[in-house]
Amino acid sequence: MKSVLVTGGAGFIGSNFIHWLLKHDPEVRIVNLDALTYAGSLENLRDLPDESRHTFVQGSITDRELIDRIFAEHKIDTVVHFAAESHVDRSIHNPGVFVDTNVVGTFTLLEAARRFWLVEKTHPIEAVRFHHVSTDEVFGTLAPHEPPFEEDTSYAPRSPYAASKASSDHFVRAYNTTYGLPITISNCSNNYGPRQFPEKLIPLMVLNAVNGRPLPVYGDGMQIRDWLYVDDHCEAIWKVATKGRVGETYCVGGDNQPPNIEIVKTICSILDELQPDSEFTPHEQLITYVQDRPGHDRRYDIRIDKIHEELGWQPSHDLAQGLLDTVKWYLDNPEWIEAITKQSDLNTWMKKNYGERKA
Ligand code: NAD
Ligand code: DAU
Repeated sequence: MKSVLVTGGAGFIGSNFIHWLLKHDPEVRIVNLDALTYAGSLENLRDLPDESRHTFVQGSITDRELIDRIFAEHKIDTVVHFAAESHVDRSIHNPGVFVDTNVVGTFTLLEAARRFWLVEKTHPIEAVRFHHVSTDEVFGTLAPHEPPFEEDTSYAPRSPYAASKASSDHFVRAYNTTYGLPITISNCSNNYGPRQFPEKLIPLMVLNAVNGRPLPVYGDGMQIRDWLYVDDHCEAIWKVATKGRVGETYCVGGDNQPPNIEIVKTICSILDELQPDSEFTPHEQLITYVQDRPGHDRRYDIRIDKIHEELGWQPSHDLAQGLLDTVKWYLDNPEWIEAITKQSDLNTWMKKNYGERKA
């Protein structure tokens, strides 16, 4: 059995990863370390495929003593590191916590892995792996005709969030080149799917539309993202962590580049179909263009040839079907929405981020 430390496993991708991994790999035990910030919730860990192979620990990745204890008690041989502050808009309002969690937290985990795996040699070196989950935002923004990001694209982060992720990537790589820590990194595009905290574009638009609230599109809505269904990302991460070459980076994406306004309009037409009698149909009437995000990256596009050729991975959900399934999931899970809204600072955040944005 592998003994896997998943950090941030009560958040969006981390919790989907734990559901996915328990279902797809009977040979793993998981310790899930999560601080349960506003973005993490035990609601995301209900109905796991096999509870007996999952242990939850509430705590911070900046707590070195706690991490050492987890490594020692659970004989951790694999780290899959998701825990982070993940929202660009929050990083604009409050960048400090992004440095603490994303940079110092990653460094703290690396130091623990170095001590146990390289100094104390708790496992044969071929049996350990530190996988760092990163983002395409480290590469910056693309002009209309620039080629897609790939593994050796220079880093050019533009938001405090992206800068903190870029910094953490550099530390992870440095621990490989300097100490020989067996690491891999995946840089992925925008994820969507069940259990995403409703501050992010897709769940925010679904919930606002259902409730007849304005749909706040930043700037002209022509910014381009690449979208990947979260389960496809989970599969890619596990392939890279278990079969990827040590020291390597793999780009991951959905191979699509719709402008934001197209995503918002698609959500509106899905809701028109699913809720034809709603007083808010047609939902497009709710679209409101608002003041843009400062430093807003204009376009992302990412090449996935390396992970496809080396590891045989490619996305299996297309965007139209994935969006339909996602909208249905939010409509079918009102208790989740209620619990998440109650537990978190969502309402305060909405006022802070949108209250003063001019239309
Ligand atoms: P999220 O915000 O939904 O979840 C983050 C989780 O980390 C939460 O459960 C939170 O409680 C936990 N956490 C925060 N600070 C912590 C700390 N100090 N100690 C322990 N736990 C802490 O984020 P997400 O969208 O699931 O993203 C997960 C990872 O994937 C991040 O590293 C992010 O940079 C990366 N990523 C996200 C996307 C995306 O589209 N969401 C795309 C590419 C990469
Ligand atoms: O590219 C990967 C990144 O994708 C991850 O690293 C981040 O953790 C994740 O949050 C996401 O970042 P984005 O900033 O792209 O995601 P967000 O959902 O916040 O916004 C998606 C796009 O929609 C972006 O161009 C901004 C725009 N937007 C967002 C919100 C919340 C709006 O137009 N209106 C909104 O209210």
